[in-house]
Order: sequence, then structure tokens, then C-alpha cells
Amino acid sequence: MTELTDVTEIKSKPVPTLPDAATVLEVTHWNDRLFSFKVERPASLRFRSGEFVMIGLMGDPDPNTGKQKPLLRAYSIASPSWEEHLEFYSIKVPDGPLTSRLQHIQPGDQIILRPKPVGTLVVDALLPGKRLWFFATGTGIAPFASLMRDPEVYEKYDEVILMHTCREVSELEYGRQLVEHIKSDEILSEIEQGKLRYYPTTTREEFHHMGRVTDNLSSGKVFEDLGIAPIDPETDRGMVCGNLAFNKDIMAILDGFGLREGANSEPKEYVVEKAFVD
Ligand SMILES: Cc1cc2nc3c(=O)[nH]c(=O)nc-3n(C[C@H](O)[C@H](O)[C@H](O)COP(=O)(O)OP(=O)(O)OC[C@H]3O[C@@H](n4cnc5c(N)ncnc54)[C@H](O)[C@@H]3O)c2cc1C
Ligand SMILES: NC(=O)c1ccc[n+]([C@@H]2O[C@H](COP(=O)([O-])OP(=O)(O)OC[C@H]3O[C@@H](n4cnc5c(N)ncnc54)[C@H](OP(=O)(O)O)[C@@H]3O)[C@@H](O)[C@H]2O)c1
Repeated sequence: MTELTDVTEIKSKPVPTLPDAATVLEVTHWNDRLFSFKVERPASLRFRSGEFVMIGLMGDPDPNTGKQKPLLRAYSIASPSWEEHLEFYSIKVPDGPLTSRLQHIQPGDQIILRPKPVGTLVVDALLPGKRLWFFATGTGIAPFASLMRDPEVYEKYDEVILMHTCREVSELEYGRQLVEHIKSDEILSEIEQGKLRYYPTTTREEFHHMGRVTDNLSSGKVFEDLGIAPIDPETDRGMVCGNLAFNKDIMAILDGFGLREGANSEPKEYVVEKAFVD
């Protein structure tokens, strides 16, 4: 009898729901600084691979009014546009307002997901070409994790090259496992058609390939290592996502190769997006 009363009480309690709530399905911790998670995809959410959305949690109550406001940050959608769920790849900033809490989410929890995807790292913002380069540092790999699984990328390009640089080897693991999965999975390998090349490097821990993306491009080391011709504005297209200094430095290098920055409204040879705001 007591048990029944308890059940009724639980059932009649209102379930707290967030505005634009999305339920967490899975969380993976890659090291003490990085994690990825999957959430349910709202049925109405349409996006182009490479775009970002605002996600977050409710902030702490205002000490005066007790009211809570959403605490939102920009996040690249790391899953491709055809996937049933949405995936995100995140930093854990120790004192970061959002990620100091977001890193503790568990399956079944809810996050806020504003369903308005935007961004410049989309295939439509580039002129047609033969080779597509993804240049990423740190969590800047997230939009490319989406694009690397999109059939449109492989329909439009003969070769797709991912250059990803992190300080330490463990920070490359998310990308390494994803590339391995794309190459071995029955459906994804059919989409990829053997066109994806992967060039990971570290800068502060010993690894078989080392050095900044910028240095490996300027010195020509990446072309030598992959046995390919240098970047040519006739054939090569680029997408850039890293910290502000990285983006600026790589833009100067791409400009030097004769490529021009494009946008959704004016497609050219490369596009850029910040991986975070410094
Ligand atoms: C267009 C866009 C897309 C983004 N996509 C992603 C994404 O897919 N994954 C992701 O983890 N972050 C992404 N970010 C950064 C994200 O919006 C937040 O800054 C991050 O989640 C940290 O939030 P926070 O509130 O904990 O700390 P914030 O107060 O937002 O940041 C505190 C400081 O932490 C550092 N920092 C923040 N984000 C990063 C990062 N990603 N890598 C390294 N240092 C960082 C910066 O120095 C920043 O000043 C993106 C940012 C932009 C502008
Ligand atoms: N990653 C860590 O182990 C670590 C640990 C503690 C704290 N943090 C802090 O977290 C923040 C983000 O660190 P992060 O490692 O994720 O991102 P990051 O500082 O952007 O570095 C990521 C990678 O990008 C390279 N890079 C940075 N600027 C570049 C440029 N202008 N041109 C070419 N390559 C460039 C770095 O090489 P270089 O190594 O040559 O700079 C590194 O390999 C920083 O404020 C950092 O102090 C990081």
C-alpha cells in the first residue's frame, strides 16, 4: 500500500523540462580535457554538414530573482546531416561556465539545443575543385567529423585530406578512431570510396608525424609525406577551423598559394571558422 502511494506521488510530480530540450544518449570521455556526446535529434532539425548550433544548460539561479537563464555556447555538429542523432565533441575548460558542468552530463540528462544551424564550413561555400583540405587544431576537428561522413564531399572531390594537429597524442584519438571507423565500416567506406587521407601531427609530445599544420604546409613536408603535388588554386579547396592565431596564419599561407577566402554568399577557394573565442 505504502509502495503504491509512493509511486503515485512520483508520477504526479511535474517532470522538469528545458526549453528546446534534447536528451543525452551517450557520453565518451577521451581524456581529462576532451569528451564527446550524442543527443536525440529533434525531428524538425535540418542542417548542412559542417554547421554549428547553440547548445547549453540552464545557468545558476539569479541570487535576487531566483530566475534561471539558459547558458549557451556555439558548438559544431560533429555528426553528418543524414545521421539520426546529433554528436558533439567538446573541450572541458576547468573553470569554463558551460563546460565545467557540461562535462558531467550522463545518458538520460537533457541539454538545451537551439535549432538554428549556421556556419561557413559548408561545401556550398566553395567553388568546385578536385582536392578538399580540412585544416584543424584541437576541437576544430568537430565540423570535419561531420563533413568526413557526408557523401556530397566525396561526390564533389577526388581526394579529401584531413590535417589535424594537437599538442598531445591522446588529443588525436577521437579523430583517429573516427577515420579508422570510416575506413572499416561497410556503409561509411562505400561513401568515402578510399578518398580520405589523414595527416595527424602533435607539437608537444613525440609522435610519428610532428609539427604545426602551418609549418608542414610552408615547408612542403605534407606534400612530400603524402606524395602529392603542392596546393594549386585551380584544383585545391580548403576549410579551416582552429584558434584565432592558427586561422590567421593559415589564411596567409593559403593566400600565398593563390587561394581566396569565400563565404556562403560568395563561394571561392577556402572558408574559415573559429574553433573557439579566445
Ligand atoms: C563557431 C564556434 C563553434 C564552436 N564549436 C565548438 C565545438 O565543437 N567544441 C568545443 O569544445 N567548443 C566549440 N566552441 C567553443 C565553445 O563555444 C565554448 O567556448 C566552449 O564550450 C567552452 O565554454 P565554457 O563556457 O566552458 O568556457 P568559455 O568561457 O566559453 O571559454 C573559456 C576559455 O576557454 C578556452 N576555450 C573555449 N573553447 C575552447 C576549445 N574548443 N578548445 C580550446 N580552448 C577553448 C578559450 O581560451 C576561452 O576563452 C565553438 C565556438 C565557436 C565560436
Ligand atoms: N592541450 C593541452 O594539453 C592543454 C593543457 C592545459 C591547458 N591548455 C590550455 O587550453 C587552451 C587550448 O589549448 P589547445 O591545446 O586545445 O589548443 P591550442 O592552444 O589552439 O593548440 C592546439 C594545436 O594548435 C597549434 N597551434 C596553436 N597556434 C597555432 C598557430 N598560430 N599556427 C599553427 N598551429 C598553432 C598548437 O601548437 P603549439 O603546441 O606549437 O602551440 C597545438 O598543436 C590553451 O589556452 C591552453 O593553455 C591546454
